[in-house]
Amino acid sequence: MKKVIAFLLCALMIASMFAGCTAAEKKGPGKNTYNLKTVKEGYLTVITSPDYAPYEFYALDANKNPTLAGFDMALAQYIADYLGLTLEVVPMDFNGIVGEMGAGKADLALAGLSPDPDRMEKMDFSDCYYEGKQAFITVSSKASMFTDLASTNKESVKIAAQTGTIQMELAEEFSPNAQITQLTKATDIIAELISGKLDGAYIEWDVAVAYKQNYPELTIVCEVPYEAEGNVIGVAKGNADLLKYVNEALNKCVDEGTFAQFVKTALEQAAGDNYQGLLGEDGKVPTE
Ligand code: ARG
Repeated sequence: MKKVIAFLLCALMIASMFAGCTAAEKKGPGKNTYNLKTVKEGYLTVITSPDYAPYEFYALDANKNPTLAGFDMALAQYIADYLGLTLEVVPMDFNGIVGEMGAGKADLALAGLSPDPDRMEKMDFSDCYYEGKQAFITVSSKASMFTDLASTNKESVKIAAQTGTIQMELAEEFSPNAQITQLTKATDIIAELISGKLDGAYIEWDVAVAYKQNYPELTIVCEVPYEAEGNVIGVAKGNADLLKYVNEALNKCVDEGTFAQFVKTALEQAAGDNYQGLLGEDGKVPTE
């Protein structure tokens, strides 16, 4: 009996030591194969904005328990494994990502990031790993309002884009006369389009396609030209070794066909039960 109590006490002590730790901390630091300098030794701290299927979002199981999913998240795990680091993902609104990289708070940003030259002061960019393009979208009931990009540029038109994104710049460039709203989450843009508050929005093409799986009334009007095509990983500014090995891992992942597999899985999961946005403090999907 005494032994059992001692064992239980011990287990309790160990459990309390880990209380408040993230899953990554519980796992402990990695062996750091290339002796890289990271924000937290032995860990790869990755920031993301999980409102962006198929890039990053939460897949829900039968009990609605969320797990981070999407090809950016699979790639983050692949890179962490390649580098021998323990992956720690920090979710936040996209709007915070560039600043967080500039403040040196994270090693990598994997967030469907476009290689916008304006961001290069705050981070370095990896090689391009995904050929994304930009879209202007609406809902089927409003599709007749738009014929081409020029038709979005009217005072009567209400459009939106996600705060801090290149889509916001595209909205200002191609629809300067329209009423432009910034919304912190891609999810809010879709919700406001569906509810009829908005007429249209600028968003990444493949994200529009993924949302369309759950909201068939979404309609892609046209492609929007943007000079910095594709997606890259944001890498801590000036960490040349990290950049080198991240590119090495990335190119291996793409060349061997693993990344294509990640995209396939992400698209399948995006078609299933999922949640796009930030979780509540209890780690659960917020209910409103
Ligand atoms: N590609 C765009 C940009 O870099 C939008 C990215 C938004 N990403 C997200 N996870 N919500 O500005």
